[in-house]
Amino acid sequence: MCGIVGYIGTKQAAPIILDGLEKLEYRGYDSAGMAVYDGKKINITKSVGRLKVLENLTHGGETLPGVCGIGHTRWATHGAPSDTNAHPHFNKDETITVVHNGIIENYIHLRQMLTDKGYEFVSDTDTEVLAHLLDYYYKGNPLEAVTKVLHRVEGSYALGILFADCPDQIFATRKDSPLIVGQSKEGCFIASDVPAILKYTRKVYYVDNQEVVRLRADHMHFYTVDEEEIQKEPVTIEWDADAAEKAGYEHFMLKEMYEQPKTVTDTLMPRIKDDDIVIDELNMTDGELAAIRKIHIVACGSAYHAGVTGKYVIEGLARIPVEVDLASEFRYRNPILEEGAMVVVISQSGETADTLAALRESKARGFKVLGIVNVVGSSIAREADNVMYTWAGPEIAVATTKAYSAQLIALYLLAVKLGRVRGGIDDQMFSSLLADLKCLPDQIEMLLNNKQKIQKFANRYVGARDVFFIGRGIDYAISLEGSLKLKEISYIHSEAYAAGELKHGTISLIEEGTLVAAVSTQPDLYAKTISNMVEVKARGAFVLAVTCEENKAIEKAADYVIYIPETNPYFANSLAIIPLQLFGYYVAVGKGCDVDKPRNLAKSVTVE
Ligand code: AGP
Repeated sequence: MCGIVGYIGTKQAAPIILDGLEKLEYRGYDSAGMAVYDGKKINITKSVGRLKVLENLTHGGETLPGVCGIGHTRWATHGAPSDTNAHPHFNKDETITVVHNGIIENYIHLRQMLTDKGYEFVSDTDTEVLAHLLDYYYKGNPLEAVTKVLHRVEGSYALGILFADCPDQIFATRKDSPLIVGQSKEGCFIASDVPAILKYTRKVYYVDNQEVVRLRADHMHFYTVDEEEIQKEPVTIEWDADAAEKAGYEHFMLKEMYEQPKTVTDTLMPRIKDDDIVIDELNMTDGELAAIRKIHIVACGSAYHAGVTGKYVIEGLARIPVEVDLASEFRYRNPILEEGAMVVVISQSGETADTLAALRESKARGFKVLGIVNVVGSSIAREADNVMYTWAGPEIAVATTKAYSAQLIALYLLAVKLGRVRGGIDDQMFSSLLADLKCLPDQIEMLLNNKQKIQKFANRYVGARDVFFIGRGIDYAISLEGSLKLKEISYIHSEAYAAGELKHGTISLIEEGTLVAAVSTQPDLYAKTISNMVEVKARGAFVLAVTCEENKAIEKAADYVIYIPETNPYFANSLAIIPLQLFGYYVAVGKGCDVDKPRNLAKSVTVE
């Protein structure tokens, strides 16, 4: 995610843009920049680092005079954070400049086409393609140039565009990335999100996909991608400023849970091309992938839980042995890494000390390390031999949700790719797996939108003391994450247990009314898990079951059932975790806990 802001009106643009970008820093903060027309030409200042660096560089905007400008605060996806990769990007003579939030999926093809036509690129970003493509199509009509570009690019975007030839106008458009425009007595605004302009106006227009907006100081025009003018109705924002940063959600954690359909889409779809899985970032040939003899997955916390799922999925689909380690254990147990092994480290922040140490230990022994990381340019991203990014955008809440879901997707893609190159997945199964993967975003959205049942159930357990999560196989991995979500934000003690292991001691803790959440998404284990549910019920437990719609037999053993839609059992974690995330969230809210910033915790554990 990135933040974009633009202003055209009667006041100086740069201070307004800086103020707006500050409200959007939660969307991205590794670099920032502005482009302002000074009456003669477009001046651009941009820099790596937090927005404060840009503010200091421009003396609060004073060094960029003018009443028409655009600005950007970046969350790097393509191209590490740097001055050159910061936005705005521009054409060669700096007469066209653009800021972008999103991912241009066909940027490699477009970059090659433009290079062949003599265009020179200075950055590693996908966005720079847009600046040169606008130049390529611009023949004096900016609207025509913009719409022609929209017909060529694939992916997601929210754009702010300046043409030096038309200094009395800003152009804006979007597809799948958010964009609003607004108007006040002092001018017109563009922004990625409401907080950026709420101080100036509560009258906004939500731009629909591939609509183009031409903003002038005192009015706006809206067009379709075919240049037909359309009328739009404004919306009045009722939120207060703080709520607006969370887009109206009470907490960042809830907002990020609801971003999971997009997170899954953004991590999945750029790696599915022409009905094949293409993971260029692995930098390994199919032959090299097929030669992998063992995979070591190393991570901490929720990333470790994703890794446990990865073990089951990779071993199941690719038949490669997988060992999963807590990074804090791996780094000190003198692990045995044999020839043909690959190490995969998973980290949202890319700064977790134990995980970084495990990466360094592996590299010191001569083993290649793949990083599954969310933060571009983070230490783990920079030191890993190859990086598979989870394009979840900044995750603000300490308790991870959307990044965890994206980590699962990365592991599924890796597992299916490995299974395919090793000949274990035939065409029919491959098509079925791809189809199930593509259904996940909508299924997640459906579960989120039907949260009432789990929300009502959670309210009954605000006073709980001990909660157990049990499951077998992948359901055990799901239980690990469900348990952590509950305890880290509600401070209620919880344990996850392999369902078959409970009877070997811990079942002695089950008392009358103890809540046991039984996860059962693996058809070949349905009956076994039901037996474990019967065991705990016999000792007084109240059993919440999370299971697939087909598994009606579970109702004889469960007191309360949450159903998830059908998917391939290997991918069930992506769905079953949703009600468990919601359960932990609503219990914590019911207890009045600080959901986004739980006690004792940090978003990134950069110490041992
Ligand atoms: C998860 O909700 C926690 N915030 C924590 O367990 C986290 O997953 C762990 O610290 C690993 O962080 P990383 O993914 O940034 O490496």
